[in-house]
Amino acid sequence: VGATSDLYQIPVRAATVEILPGLATPVVGYNGQFVGPTIKARKGRSVALQVTNQLTKPTNVHLHGGFTPAAHDGHPMDSIAPGVTRTYAYPNLQHAATLWYHDHSHHAEAEHIYRGLHGFYLIEDDAEKALRLPSGQYDIPILLRDALIGADGSLVFDPTDGENRPTILANGKPQPYLRVAARRYRFRLLNASLHRIFRLRLDRGQMIQIGSDGGLLPAPVPVSEVKLTPGERVEVVIDFGTQPVGTRVVLENTSGPVIGFDVTSTATDDSRVPDQLIPLPALPTPTVTRDVALSFDPSKLAFTINGKTYDATRVDAQVVNGTTEIWRVTNRDTAFGIDHNFHLHLVQFRLLDRDGVPPTPGEAGWKDTVHIPPGSTVRVQATFAGFTGKYAFHCHFPEHSSFGMMAQFEVV
Ligand code: C2O
Ligand code: CU
Ligand code: CU
Repeated sequence: VGATSDLYQIPVRAATVEILPGLATPVVGYNGQFVGPTIKARKGRSVALQVTNQLTKPTNVHLHGGFTPAAHDGHPMDSIAPGVTRTYAYPNLQHAATLWYHDHSHHAEAEHIYRGLHGFYLIEDDAEKALRLPSGQYDIPILLRDALIGADGSLVFDPTDGENRPTILANGKPQPYLRVAARRYRFRLLNASLHRIFRLRLDRGQMIQIGSDGGLLPAPVPVSEVKLTPGERVEVVIDFGTQPVGTRVVLENTSGPVIGFDVTSTATDDSRVPDQLIPLPALPTPTVTRDVALSFDPSKLAFTINGKTYDATRVDAQVVNGTTEIWRVTNRDTAFGIDHNFHLHLVQFRLLDRDGVPPTPGEAGWKDTVHIPPGSTVRVQATFAGFTGKYAFHCHFPEHSSFGMMAQFEVV
């Protein structure tokens, strides 16, 4: 923790919040908040996150999407015992991006995330600032997730019944309304659910996608639908200046409304969405190709990677520091029709193709989590350079990863 470091002190503790009107809901939160505090970092300036575990169980913190030394990555076996304080140091060497932080303690991450151990971590930099995208109060992170809330207000967690979580929450609130001015806004959308795939549309107006998991796209893309599987982020700009004051614009999922935007006032708007955002570098030449198969094993009721469940003492892939690899990842669960996705720690990758078809522009930028529908194969390419050590890779449906669908690579 040096002078050029920002210090955040965050207790992890139980708390009670009101999610549905009149009902008290026990949660577990960073700082006791159901959605943890948003941490804003500057590229090139480190952040020290001092975490005190005030729970009765181990927890830890993983910076999802972060280029982080292994000792600070929140390895599943590297947890913080109850009563202990641990400081994570994040170097913030990567460009501007919408990251998030969450619990990753072995076998417990699904329940911990479900009960509230999730929050945003935004990295900002000068290149992004120079674009003059909507900023400040017009730049809003929105954590989307679902929940099953019992009649007594409790968050009901059944890891085998992920389909039965009917309440959709945006920043912890069921179908909230946000008053907006008639101007452009930037929204950073994160799916922090365990199971639900969001397919988001606007009932009027236009979404312009500007970013994906690991930063801005090379150019803005008008989109009619945003698909988010668990762990993924998409950034969009919506211009409410195209709507008369008094209009309500609704962001809806296939399940119904998610957020309403009430255009309540006029405004001056000096923000822009330039035709060119942040260019993507040319893809380096890969030297290794790996095959990864994701499948459910009904005989063991386990989720597996290449036929194996997670073993923290095993290294599943050894990667040479400084090299570029292609990972070819297949979802074999056609018989059960199970969706998976694929997440690599440490790196941002690029999606090369999905069943041989090049990605849509919205998926062609920096990614760390990619959807793989049943029967599909994706090829992603990543460069592993800088940090050595052991890192996890897994399906980011946390109920799958906590039941075995996780493995690790070691950069040597
Ligand atoms: Cu969101 Cu292993 O991470
Ligand atoms: Cu991660
Ligand atoms: Cu999965």
